[in-house]
Amino acid sequence: MKSFTFYNPTRLHFGNGQIARLADEIAPGSRVLLVYGGGSVKKNDVYAQIMAALAGSEVTEFGGIEPNPEFDTLMKAVALGREQRPDWIIAAGGGSVSDGAKFIAAAIDLDPALDPWLIVGNRIKLESAVPLGVVLTLPATGSESNLASVITRSSTHDKISFKNPLVFPRFAVLDPAVMATLPPRQVGNGVVDAFVHTTEQYLTFPAQAHIQDRLAEGILATLAEVGPNLLTAQDDEARANVMWAANQALFGLVGVGQPQDWATHAIGHELTALYGLDHAQTLAVTLPSLLRYCIAEKEAKLVQYANRVWGIPGSGPGVAAAAIEATADFFERMGVPVHLGAYGIDPDQAATRVQEQLIRHGRADLGEHGRLSPADCAAIVRAAG
Ligand code: NZQ
Ligand code: ZN
Repeated sequence: MKSFTFYNPTRLHFGNGQIARLADEIAPGSRVLLVYGGGSVKKNDVYAQIMAALAGSEVTEFGGIEPNPEFDTLMKAVALGREQRPDWIIAAGGGSVSDGAKFIAAAIDLDPALDPWLIVGNRIKLESAVPLGVVLTLPATGSESNLASVITRSSTHDKISFKNPLVFPRFAVLDPAVMATLPPRQVGNGVVDAFVHTTEQYLTFPAQAHIQDRLAEGILATLAEVGPNLLTAQDDEARANVMWAANQALFGLVGVGQPQDWATHAIGHELTALYGLDHAQTLAVTLPSLLRYCIAEKEAKLVQYANRVWGIPGSGPGVAAAAIEATADFFERMGVPVHLGAYGIDPDQAATRVQEQLIRHGRADLGEHGRLSPADCAAIVRAAG
């Protein structure tokens, strides 16, 4: 196992009714900038619960953060925040709202002479950020308790991340009851995203990190077991376990001391930037194809995954291949298609365009060995047709 430093400062309030804990987190009289997405929080009772808990605070609202949050939209919130000087930003939503709020928190505090777009790609040093709290409404990204954020600029086909400990949320509320209003497409997306976060930190090569392997296998097996129940039943147990699984997949612990891949995410971000696909749709398309392409170098872990997660016994390339097909079948059962054709996208064109984007973004050495070139990624995309 490689050396590591593990750090995560986010306090988690997990369970039904926990949105009320905002009243403990935010001192009365605080200035709060409440940010949310397209309005789901007002159609269910999340917004009402937040406003009740923040009754003693001075709240300014900013709504309209899109899925795959847009730089131009976020800059409007930054302008509002620079006037209001909030003590807190509260994000109410899924990964897009949480990621958008991280960007807003960092950009408000930035020297106004600097271009905030330089925050993405970590091209500028951040000195501070407004304290952030997240009320999660869609379990998927783990953004509610990690230091990452992914921002989109559709006009230039850019979808780029930044990471900084200053934007770790100070706290997050994970109330599984909020999942009741999720449309099936977002349920499927959330389960697939959490699954792929785990495989990116697990399906590489053996590194004698036994605890992290077992954590990953526990998350994957739980998602495989209870994820489909969310599509057919109002299942409180499944909701709670999926919400916790998605958080655990990307709050930092699963990947410590492990080799990591993340090529599926890099390719996926380009597919979203080019075609507007949902984040998890890009992962469902890319991961099975990437695993087939890299089956030889990943065989040992694929066999372990087959044995321990899918209960497929034995060893060798046939068992590794069976685990890949079980994965693709699972994504399809979650309602997230694994072929580009299902989204009306031509695989040859997508392969060429993804290759160009990866070159433009300097992503020439992907995968756990740094050996996947843009041409390799193009082959992976083409084979996902
Ligand atoms: O905008 P509203 O009206 O709230 O509706 C949202 C949105 O349309 C809806 N929704 C959320 N909670 C709901 C609900 N609808 C009904 N009831 C609820 N309780 O779901 C739609 C999608 O929301 P979004 O936040 O876009 O989804 P997700 O959580 O999948 O986030 C995706 C974004 O996160 C980034 C992705 O790239 C993408 O931009 N990621 C962030 C990561 C991180 N920070 O660590 C890691 C991930 O790999 C990922 O890249
Ligand atoms: Zn993801």
